[in-house]
Amino acid sequence: MFEFHRNEQLLFSTVWLLFVVLTVVIAIGPALTSQSTNEPLPTSEPMTDLERKGLKVYVNEGCVYCHTQQVRPVKPDENLGRPSAPGDFARVERPGIWRQTPAILGSERTGPDLTNVGKRQPSGQWHLMHLYNPRAVVSESIMPSFKWLFRVVDRPAEDATVVSMPGGYGPEDGTLVATDRAETLVAYLQSLDQAPLPGQDAAGGGSKKGSTSSPAKEAGGPDGASIYASSCASCHQSNGAGVPGAFPPLKGDPVVTAEDPRRHVEIILEGLSGKKIEGTSYSAAMPGFADQLDDDEIAAVVNHERTSWGNSAPTVEPEDVEAIRKAMKEASDESL
Ligand code: HEC
Ligand code: HEC
Repeated sequence: MFEFHRNEQLLFSTVWLLFVVLTVVIAIGPALTSQSTNEPLPTSEPMTDLERKGLKVYVNEGCVYCHTQQVRPVKPDENLGRPSAPGDFARVERPGIWRQTPAILGSERTGPDLTNVGKRQPSGQWHLMHLYNPRAVVSESIMPSFKWLFRVVDRPAEDATVVSMPGGYGPEDGTLVATDRAETLVAYLQSLDQAPLPGQDAAGGGSKKGSTSSPAKEAGGPDGASIYASSCASCHQSNGAGVPGAFPPLKGDPVVTAEDPRRHVEIILEGLSGKKIEGTSYSAAMPGFADQLDDDEIAAVVNHERTSWGNSAPTVEPEDVEAIRKAMKEASDESL
């Protein structure tokens, strides 16, 4: 009946038809169904225009070659957040009918997973400094500099975002300002913050909060050194020496070595900006950690700072932190 060996036209059109049908059934159909049935998580926020532009920069600059945005349900990924769910990606839309959904999952972790980086590192100044030259804030970093996202100008415009780099890392003369592309990219990075799954409490997606099973915790209280490494060292550096002009040293710092730990705890809870420390003003701001660290964890990190790098100051108990937290809350309720 089918004279394929005689009629090459019939042969070609049959093969072509099969190809089209299989493409629709195997690839296009399932893709459309999964796109239309994948709802964003109820508590997640839609992307702002700025963040969407930042996502485009993220894709264009090839950040995905070194960074993933997928947390696997395996032990090594525990500190990155909860395992990713399809709904996490529902807000990443196709930019147009002829374009694919931007590929952000990634497959290679030369650098850390960025699923929750907005929570881990909320400071925009830090991101800008890090993008201009990662070595300025993470001395051993192998991430490339993205200098073309910045401009050096003689006199920055009023609304420009000036980036002040620590000594030796900035441009030789002129002022470093972030371009729009850098600003949108940072807005995107800051927005990377896992929304809790329905029925899960907000802490589930935190950096270390969910890991009650960590050996440190079982052996009596959280480990201050590891909290310091994951929450504080990116700015204050692992040796406590800070980054000159950007992040103050905690080694020998008057607040950290003060007899009374009250101010120390307050600053970690509510953050700090615009304070001159030992004659130096710091351009960056210190984010508050009240929502991310509980009283045990704050006590542990305070004690780590008070007893490391040659510091030796009186330590605190979780109950002290609890009392200070309460007093601060009362004070802020009163001022409302
Ligand atoms: C060649 C690989 C490479 C590329 C490309 C790359 N990074 Fe990185 N990135 C790293 C490495 C390695 C680290 C860890 C050291 C550090 O913090 O600098 C890192 C760290 C980071 C961090 C800090 C993460 C944390 O948990 O503290 C952020 C944010 C980041 N990169 C963003 C980006 C963005 C945005 C781009 C694209 C513009 C990018 N990276 C491109 C390798 C890369
Ligand atoms: C995004 C960067 C960043 C991170 C992360 C960060 N800090 Fe800071 N920290 C700063 C900056 C900037 C200042 C100075 C602010 C100022 O001068 O107004 C500061 C100030 C401080 C001070 C006060 C020093 C003084 O003399 O007043 C303490 C204490 C401190 N940080 C502890 C911590 C601890 C503990 C953590 C981790 C839980 C942490 N910081 C995480 C940037 C950071």
